[in-house]
Amino acid sequence: MTIVINMRDRVDNRKIKIAAKFIREGKLVAFPTETVYGLGADALNEKAVRRIFEAKGRPADNPLIVHIARFEQLYELARNVPREAEILAEHFWPGPLTIVLPKKDNVPKTTTGGLDTVAIRMPAHEIALNLIKASGRPIAAPSANISGKPSPTLAEHVVDDFYGRIECIIDGGEVKIGVESTVLDLTTKPPTLLRPGGLPLEEIERIIGRIKIHPAVKGKTVDIAKAPGMKYKHYAPNAQVIVIEGNREKVKEKIKELLKEYKKRGIKVGIMATGDFYEADAYVNLGNSEEEVAKNLFRALRELDKSGVDVILAEGIEEKGLGLAVMNRLRKAAGYKIVRA
Ligand code: TXA
Ligand code: MG
Repeated sequence: MTIVINMRDRVDNRKIKIAAKFIREGKLVAFPTETVYGLGADALNEKAVRRIFEAKGRPADNPLIVHIARFEQLYELARNVPREAEILAEHFWPGPLTIVLPKKDNVPKTTTGGLDTVAIRMPAHEIALNLIKASGRPIAAPSANISGKPSPTLAEHVVDDFYGRIECIIDGGEVKIGVESTVLDLTTKPPTLLRPGGLPLEEIERIIGRIKIHPAVKGKTVDIAKAPGMKYKHYAPNAQVIVIEGNREKVKEKIKELLKEYKKRGIKVGIMATGDFYEADAYVNLGNSEEEVAKNLFRALRELDKSGVDVILAEGIEEKGLGLAVMNRLRKAAGYKIVRA
């Protein structure tokens, strides 16, 4: 049975206590963060963590992020905490930054996908923080979607994927950011960006200087064991996604041209773009700034897929600010099917 707790309008700490008890008992609780919803369990309880992998259908070698609510918890999970980690934590926590550090022995390898490192983040969300504090445990939480589906930005998405299969879902309304956290490996020099996300690369570099970008961030070449998450197909709806990239005006023209062509052939077309496309079988206006596009991206993929279209044409945006994270997700969703306008 799944208990759905509605906290859209008001955070209720009495109800958070109920969810925290589930965590202590080794059960699964989905909860909102500022990035996307997470599927949480006690990070130090192997059995509980194993259930996360089962519920998501997630490969056992794809490690989880461990969420904390107090800075001291960093030292309880990581063996070495370099000065850089402390500086980043001071600047960006709570917030959409995950840092990878050597793990302590108390963190089970089940949680870290067999690695000797652990990914840690302090989310900037009152419900998430209060849940972690009330449970008294660090909480392992991947995005609360079935493996391969777009990450959830609304509790409804979590209900669609997990209702009846986990103990509790906390509904905190729509998330603020809409793409997952930025993952930064601090075990290399300079640090390596493993996944672009809710904290723009430019902001990190302003604080600690240049960082390496893992090749898998921009292309599909994945040879590594370092960023296990990147070798799996991600954010893939049932419809074929095609990303159209280039100059904004030309991209819009190209989308119109492709739309006409597909319609002539009787193919149903969905469009996600920074504008309205009434002629399409279904469309989502992603908004105008990188922030708006990030927030609407995963919902758009889910909605267009539900509408039953055969093809989704997605407008590419500039890779600055949150645009880097957006384009990383879009290209993956498209299986790297990219059209240049
Ligand atoms: O915003 C987020 O990060 C959300 C919310 C719930 O906090 N969580 C999330 O988790 O996106 P997940 O499991 O969907 O993505 C975690 C990513 C994966 O790409 C995984 O491979 C990487 O972090 N990761 C986790 N631990 C790692 C480690 N020790 N070394 C390298 N990469 C790691
Ligand atoms: Mg995920």
